[in-house]
Amino acid sequence: AFEGPTSVWRYAAALPFAEGVTLPEGGTPLHRVPRLEDDVGVRNLRVKHEGMNPTGSFKDRGMTVGVRVARELDVDRLACASTGNTSAALAAYGGRADLQTLVLLPAGKVAAGKIAQAALHDARILEVEGNFDDCLDRVQDLADRGEAYLLNSLNPFRLEGQKTIGLEILEEFRDDHGRFPDRICLPVGNAGNTAALYKCFREMVLSGDLAPGDVPKLTGVQAEGAAPMVEAIEDGREDTRRWEDVETIATAIRIGNPVNAPKALPGIRETGGTAVSVPDEEITSAQRALAREGVGVEPASAASVAGLRKLRDRGEVGPGEDVVCLTTGHLLKDPDAAAEAGAEPEAVPNDTDDILAHLAGKRVT
Ligand code: F0G
Repeated sequence: AFEGPTSVWRYAAALPFAEGVTLPEGGTPLHRVPRLEDDVGVRNLRVKHEGMNPTGSFKDRGMTVGVRVARELDVDRLACASTGNTSAALAAYGGRADLQTLVLLPAGKVAAGKIAQAALHDARILEVEGNFDDCLDRVQDLADRGEAYLLNSLNPFRLEGQKTIGLEILEEFRDDHGRFPDRICLPVGNAGNTAALYKCFREMVLSGDLAPGDVPKLTGVQAEGAAPMVEAIEDGREDTRRWEDVETIATAIRIGNPVNAPKALPGIRETGGTAVSVPDEEITSAQRALAREGVGVEPASAASVAGLRKLRDRGEVGPGEDVVCLTTGHLLKDPDAAAEAGAEPEAVPNDTDDILAHLAGKRVT
């Protein structure tokens, strides 16, 4: 029933509007990664690279809907707390809609590319002394006082747009393989995306487009230093306990109080999925493995692959599974982490013979 090129608005029938404030977004590649697939040891591994959206992350899918709603409501000021990507997307879509934007960022913990985007798209940037969860507390207060329209993933219209990740994955995977994937692995911060995918699958089951037995297992991955969702799954709780001290190289998911946990935890459980945490070294090594296949992602995104590898090693994921890993943000979002994980530049003289000698492994004097 869906028509038009692959993009968020191809799925307008599943969204609250027929069009949004668009740049346009969605229609991201579903990469084959044969070497990584072999290495991890699953039947099919695909990587849905959400870093290929207009501002370089999946947040654009939510903002095209959320900012449209804000325009409908005729609000004066848009605001969000952010580990970076949401602020970049809000600034760009706010600019597109000619609306004022305010972003609250945890001081010193946001990757350079993301701050650069928020700055150039002309958001007003407040650096808060505190972590992301503190920023979200502050911006919720501002919204409660009527000072701003909140565009974090607590805003349900954001999640409506993000449902289209699920719709795209299922359509594309079935076109290529004649069936739906068994599992989707994704990084988890505030758990908005996990909640959005679950809503997408529930609606598809209700409309008869997806058999209950074909719903992919939602598998959330967190960094060891910020893993309240993993803890809640392991403890069998309905909500998370707030972690006050969080730390990880994957600053995008450096979150201790996932506000969408009550919507996301049932999604993980009822689809037969799980949640797993990975150390920073495994995140970096997955980031490098993806990059060697030409897929450039930021650290948080690589957590999806690191988590899959861990579950496969433990035998919790079998060799016959078809898996899609979601990579949520582009490599250039965090140039410092990328440079640190990659090859070292080598200094050479400005001379072709010396360069050839250097490449041949000879010392250049
Ligand atoms: N991956 C990236 C690259 C992100 O930026 C985020 C969240 C996530 C994963 C986690 O998604 O919150 O839906 O579970 N970034 C938010 C931000 C918090 O402010 O940009 P989630």
